[in-house]
Amino acid sequence: MEVLGIESSCDETGAAVVNEKKEICSNVLWTQIKMHTPFGGVVPEIAARAHLERIDEIVREAMEKAGIGFEDLSAVAVSAGPGLIGGVIVGVMTAKAICAAHRLPFVALNHLEGHALTARLTGEVEFPFLLLLVSGGHCQILAVKGVGQYEKLGGTMDDSAGEAFDKVSKMLGLGYPGGPKIEAAAKKGNASRFEFPVPMKGRPGCDFSFSGLKTSVRHTIEQLTGKAPGAEILPEEEMRRELTEQEICDIAASFQAAVLKTVKDRLEHAVKIFKSRFPTGKDLVVAGGVASNTALRGMLTELAEKNKLQFTAPPVNLCTDNAVMVAWAGLERFREGLTDSLDFKARPRWPLDASRPGKK
Ligand code: KG4
Ligand code: ZN
Repeated sequence: MEVLGIESSCDETGAAVVNEKKEICSNVLWTQIKMHTPFGGVVPEIAARAHLERIDEIVREAMEKAGIGFEDLSAVAVSAGPGLIGGVIVGVMTAKAICAAHRLPFVALNHLEGHALTARLTGEVEFPFLLLLVSGGHCQILAVKGVGQYEKLGGTMDDSAGEAFDKVSKMLGLGYPGGPKIEAAAKKGNASRFEFPVPMKGRPGCDFSFSGLKTSVRHTIEQLTGKAPGAEILPEEEMRRELTEQEICDIAASFQAAVLKTVKDRLEHAVKIFKSRFPTGKDLVVAGGVASNTALRGMLTELAEKNKLQFTAPPVNLCTDNAVMVAWAGLERFREGLTDSLDFKARPRWPLDASRPGKK
């Protein structure tokens, strides 16, 4: 059973083939980061055009590397949302065309389900499991009860974790994408130099909030650069010149430490809820772009150990957007008979816990 996966929901164009033996037969990924860097973030129109220009050759390359023809596939899966709609449509139309031409089953995958199920490809993870999903657009804790069966335990009330990393990186003049830049700067910084607030700490439940932390970082920068809080904000480039290299690294380290503390606090609550509701659950899984953060992985390893859960994090290259996760989650859905009709419409927004069961 071979499934082709196609990814084009943000700034990565990807195609990959996986099989039911958990083998990655091919994995082709083209990142557009360089095209968006001058703008400090992903420009949807540029992304959509770039996906359109490259997607055919990327799919062809994935098929060649897998050494199979379209007629050998069992199904084609595509990230059909949530995401930047122009790019999502490019992927969805490509997948539909292949399915129509070769009479193949079509799987319209929720991109977040791709992130969520990757750990079952790269590790031995059984349902139900506890999932921390931390990407550029999402920050949630979910109980994953089965394929297409998600119960949200907590979510963010404002920004996602990835967004917080990206915005603080921008404030520090480190650029886009922020996560890896903050992580690198944090390694050279002193995490206890700045006392940033730990959002939601001690509050009941598993919800997140990052806006207060972000504001606190901004105030610190304003103070260091001689601007009173609330005064007109300096253009980001100018700020950077005024902050020393060490200050930038110390802010990055202190910010990352505050993010880790809030995630730990929220997750400790979630573990209690998960264990009481799903006593057979044994696994803690992290997924999404922010899951590639080494410090976060370290903290989660300890938290899982303390709570007698097995911790699984996919390899870093499968945490950030890729097509392997789409192919694998597509395979899991196909295996359960959860395919979709070719009139499925791409969705800009699509909460994972509203993931429909598919068309049997
Ligand atoms: O899952 P992803 O690749 O795309 C979405 O579906 O959103 O996540 C991208 C996010 C960005 O916000 C990026 O800054 C963050 O993941 N990220 C990181 C790291 N690598 C990527 N955040 C923290 N530390 C990292 N090493
Ligand atoms: Zn993603």
